[in-house]
Amino acid sequence: MKRIFFYIAVFTGILFTSCRPEIYEFPVMPSVADSTLKTSPFPIGGALGMYDLKNNENYRILVANEFKSITAENAMKMGSISKGRGQYFWDDADYFVDFGVKNNLRVHGHTLIWYKQSATATPSWVLNFTGTKDDWKQLMKEYITAVMTRYKGKVKSWDVVNEAFKDDGTYRSTSEDIWAKNIGSPEYIYWAFQCAREADPDALLFYNDYGHEYSVAKRTAIANMVADMKAKNIPIDGIGMQMHTDIDRSVFVDIKNAIDAMVKTGLLIHISELEVYVNKANVAGAVFTDELAKKQATHYRMISKYMKDVPVAQRYGITTWGVYDNAKASPPEWPLLFDTQMKRKPAYYGVIEGYNMN
Ligand code: XIL
Repeated sequence: MKRIFFYIAVFTGILFTSCRPEIYEFPVMPSVADSTLKTSPFPIGGALGMYDLKNNENYRILVANEFKSITAENAMKMGSISKGRGQYFWDDADYFVDFGVKNNLRVHGHTLIWYKQSATATPSWVLNFTGTKDDWKQLMKEYITAVMTRYKGKVKSWDVVNEAFKDDGTYRSTSEDIWAKNIGSPEYIYWAFQCAREADPDALLFYNDYGHEYSVAKRTAIANMVADMKAKNIPIDGIGMQMHTDIDRSVFVDIKNAIDAMVKTGLLIHISELEVYVNKANVAGAVFTDELAKKQATHYRMISKYMKDVPVAQRYGITTWGVYDNAKASPPEWPLLFDTQMKRKPAYYGVIEGYNMN
């Protein structure tokens, strides 16, 4: 009798994989009873690297059991996907999205348009493209449409544009931002959001940036841009606050003020790339002491509490930029919730304490 089930299972397995050759299969992870981040009042998640996701089963189990939301660290950036006009590399993004869908995790897309002239952010064929403003708009639209159409119904939300402002609150210059150079700011940003809404009307659209907590000018500029978009009927649903922060620089009141300022836009709030550095001075032989671990836990606790203070309808959650500390980081650094052995750190418990605070 058991044999029959075995053959049925093998047969359906073969059938399934042969119909969908680009999708990688692996089992849905069992849930563990003591998984507590899953019980948070807002989704908590992490940015995933493809190497660990593909090769490290303990990593997959940890992610599936602890997180409710995932972002691809690099696999869904334009440089990773776009290999030429109309040419796409989907394997990694498919693998990542499929892992999220199978394990019932919210999948956040990062990022459609990013000014950066690095290979992952913007492919060289785009950097070398020449054409009129309309040609550039068409190129952007084609890319956004292709990616969002492929993941319609699977990717819940997208960072549509990343880091379009400088810290002083002005738009990036035409020399550093090819989109600003060829389309103009804020026109390229608004155009990207319009294309995104058209490509997948059900996806939530975010503007993602860093530095809200240390630059009043920048967060004011972002709030002003949102007001302008609303006035002009340009779609936008959320603000991504990256929050790569550290135990020395970040003052709690600044983080609180930054979140409050963004809450006033009325949009969803996603702390989208959270890290709390403890060795910002880059000391080569630094050691992660208990004292540093406690300080870091306090930071995570406050940030978690501040997310809980966001009105329920606007809470999109917290995503850490990575999952576990990198034992090979040089200079050494320990910014995340899980240690180099993937064990829970005081920071992890700080997050839980934070969302349980009143
Ligand atoms: C970083 C990745 O972590 C690196 O692996 C990659 O080399 C460069 O990009 N802001 C962002 C993220 O929006 O996409 C960046 O991620 C970190 C800063």
